[in-house]
Amino acid sequence: MERRLDWRGRNGVHRADHACAGDARKRRYLRCCKRHRHADTMRRLARPTDLDPVFAIYSHPQVVPYLTYDPMERSAFAPIFDELLRSGSFWIWEHEGALAGFYKTTRYPGRVHHVAQLGTLAVDPRLHGQGVGRAMLNDALRQLRADGVKRVELYAEADNSQALAFYHRLGFAHEGTLKAFYKRSHEAHYVDEHVLGLLLE
Ligand SMILES: CC(C)(COP(=O)(O)OP(=O)(O)OC[C@H]1O[C@@H](n2cnc3c(N)ncnc32)[C@H](O)[C@@H]1OP(=O)(O)O)[C@@H](O)C(=O)NCCC(=O)NCCS
Repeated sequence: MERRLDWRGRNGVHRADHACAGDARKRRYLRCCKRHRHADTMRRLARPTDLDPVFAIYSHPQVVPYLTYDPMERSAFAPIFDELLRSGSFWIWEHEGALAGFYKTTRYPGRVHHVAQLGTLAVDPRLHGQGVGRAMLNDALRQLRADGVKRVELYAEADNSQALAFYHRLGFAHEGTLKAFYKRSHEAHYVDEHVLGLLLE
């Protein structure tokens, strides 16, 4: 079903069709997301009932090659999901009332308390290329900045060209490479890991 949403812009009421992702609409949507909090996008902490939608995204063939664990059964994923829940920093991004993406933030202690690491980040592949990841990450960066974070860092595999392009578009810089850091069980070779960083103003 097509969903039409209203929000109030500076010049009055805007209408946008979010189900239709034309470039002009996408740009308008992202500009509006920046200015206003849309009723249909939301960050919240993960809860136990998110297991199935998180597992569906995590184990998708376009996602699982780039996260920490090899493909596994739901029963094996459940304790991993519980650990993410227990961290208290595994975030869900909702888009049009459905779970559209997730990420985990980790703060360091003591003298590196101003640094946060991002990990376990993915968007539902059905929504790739529609600005959902950008909206989710910008919101995460706003939250981290408000929490006093000055530096955000993450790891991305050298063969994950989509994520590398994504993070570079969002302002992250390549800071170094960890040689042979990552290994998928079905592949013979080891993969390099790039360290990306972003300083928050
Ligand atoms: C990386 C990922 C989160 C991007 O999410 P997304 O919702 O598709 O990204 P967006 O549509 O918001 O794109 C934002 C920007 O990233 C760039 N980008 C995204 N996907 C891209 C791709 N496949 N190729 C080139 N650029 C890409 C776009 O240029 C876009 O820039 P623009 O807004 O200026 O046009 C998503 O592809 C994903 O979940 N990948 C699998 C899991 C993964 O790799 N996680 C990262 C682990 S480190």
